[in-house]
Amino acid sequence: MEYKIGVIAGDGIGPEIVAEARKVLDRVGSVYGHTFCYEEIQMGGCSIDATGVPLTDDAIAAAKASDAVLMGSIGGNTATSPWYQLPPDRRPEAGLLRLRKELNLFANLRPAYLYDELRAACPLRDEIIGDGFDMMIMRELTGGLYFGERKTENQNGVLTATDTLTYSETEIRRIAKRGFDIARKRRKKVTSVDKANVLDSSRLWRKIVEEVAADYPDVAYEHMLVDNCAMQLVKDPKQFDVILTENMFGDILSDEASMVTGSIGMLASASLNDTKFGLYEPSGGSAPDIAGKGIANPIATVLSAAMLLRYSLDLDAEADAVEAAVKQVLKEGFRTIDIMPQENAMGESGQAEVTQVGTAQMGDLICGHIGV
Ligand code: IPM
Ligand code: MG
Repeated sequence: MEYKIGVIAGDGIGPEIVAEARKVLDRVGSVYGHTFCYEEIQMGGCSIDATGVPLTDDAIAAAKASDAVLMGSIGGNTATSPWYQLPPDRRPEAGLLRLRKELNLFANLRPAYLYDELRAACPLRDEIIGDGFDMMIMRELTGGLYFGERKTENQNGVLTATDTLTYSETEIRRIAKRGFDIARKRRKKVTSVDKANVLDSSRLWRKIVEEVAADYPDVAYEHMLVDNCAMQLVKDPKQFDVILTENMFGDILSDEASMVTGSIGMLASASLNDTKFGLYEPSGGSAPDIAGKGIANPIATVLSAAMLLRYSLDLDAEADAVEAAVKQVLKEGFRTIDIMPQENAMGESGQAEVTQVGTAQMGDLICGHIGV
């Protein structure tokens, strides 16, 4: 089969990590007999430099015309980059938010899984890690604070800024259904996270989640306040299967969950709408401080490409092969710098030798385990 993949390399480490994911897709193509035709799409800071805006209408049309889009990362150093002198709606992130909205990518899946091989990179104590953990953060992606009305105004000489957090029952219901559907294919537990002791939007969230839950009697569910959830993620991450939450809470909790798995460089993500189309990106940022050094971890992007194969192209065997290859490379002891064991952890666990590798070498090693 031939597939059309939109590629947004983006800024910072984006081009480096996307290059490795493409390498892996090409390897999958040659082993399994598929052709991936890539169309490069500009978004973020590089688009601002080239066109003056973070996302052009042409770029949106190109994304829409693809079977799926693979993305690296966008944005720069918010303190030093000239992109952040621009009005907020012209900054790099505005491009990503517009793309999510235009393509109706309301369901963001962020799997956080601790590879056994990466126990030494996990900041939690061994007794907390136990047999490891495996959770899926389902983040609502096109509503809430990110897309509410916002303004900054001078009220009687006092600068005052307002952001609005709005959710309709329709928006809540569709993401809740996705969350329960996914839980059904996993360990059948949903933790819905909100701040219902304070926010109206959270009280509606809770009510609608309860209604949806009634249609899934086989799935256990609970409500948890977001501050408690932040604590539970480091206290006992094993308790979680699917974490279902709104946009802003999901943004914060998914970064936290990623660190618990050892590094944000391991966390893949899929942003889906009601069709097969999806945008696949690592959950981490553009890491401008290490851009161009060839040391960024490409695994989250490679695993995002695996999600692309699975969710948008229905190529489950191919996705399994990519995930198994990543596991194998970790098992053989290869690590990018961010997932190198901390010295004391290495001594204590007395684990096998590990070898530090760069971005491209990691990509090559993963390719080497596909189709062998
Ligand atoms: C993420 C990122 C984005 C977000 C930024 C880049 C706008 O942090 O995907 O988690 O906040 O959604
Ligand atoms: Mg984030």
